[in-house]
Amino acid sequence: MTARAALRPILSRYTAEDPAGLRLGYTDAGKPFLENRGVSDLSFSISHSDNIATVALTVGQPIGIDIEHVRRVPEQDRITQEYFCHHEQVFLLGLPPQMRAEAFFKLWTCKEACLKAIGTGLGTSLATFEVAIDRGDSITIVSVDGNKEIAKQWFVSSFVPEREYLGAVALRCSIAPEIQRFAFWSELGDSDSQSGM
Ligand SMILES: CC(C)(COP(=O)(O)OP(=O)(O)OC[C@H]1O[C@@H](n2cnc3c(N)ncnc32)[C@H](O)[C@@H]1OP(=O)(O)O)[C@@H](O)C(=O)NCCC(=O)NCCS
Repeated sequence: MTARAALRPILSRYTAEDPAGLRLGYTDAGKPFLENRGVSDLSFSISHSDNIATVALTVGQPIGIDIEHVRRVPEQDRITQEYFCHHEQVFLLGLPPQMRAEAFFKLWTCKEACLKAIGTGLGTSLATFEVAIDRGDSITIVSVDGNKEIAKQWFVSSFVPEREYLGAVALRCSIAPEIQRFAFWSELGDSDSQSGM
């Protein structure tokens, strides 16, 4: 199921609109939004990787989501040194090589989710959002453009959409939001199935 195909029925559940009546617009940087009157407060973000698609929705503040297939990237250390913050580089390069790919994609998805929330995507440096993984494996935004106070207004959460994939959802809000996850499967000829997670 592609994210675009899934989007209208999902957005329809959270608006009073028929899927066909939803008007999708895109900013110049490519961030999608709803043009329908009365639902402008609904924010959503989509991400796809291989045959997995994710959609994140919230009300009142911009949200971003990103998923990636965790894989070996030959130029990973170069990308880390070129695009990640100093502390992130030290953290990643200090890990045993077999643990680096997962940590790299954990940081990457968090950063990209933040950039998709603000709507600039990779048009803004990945180093804008400094992310830390603590020993318990939880994620926090340490600073935004070097500012630690603004970072406290951000929430980010990592998740596993499927084996060998990592995802992150980010939004600007100072208290941890309640997150509800739903999974949908679609196969040719079958109707969608759904489960709460
Ligand atoms: C947006 C971007 C982060 C996508 O990352 P990706 O890992 O390759 O792909 P994903 O599947 O995770 O995300 C794609 C989705 O992100 C969304 N998206 C695209 N640009 C976005 C932005 N600036 N902000 C938030 N979301 C964006 C779209 O919904 C897109 O899906 P769609 O094309 O099916 O609608 C990356 O491609 C990017 O930053 N591109 C540059 C954007 C840019 O500078 N555009 C200038 C156009 S002039």
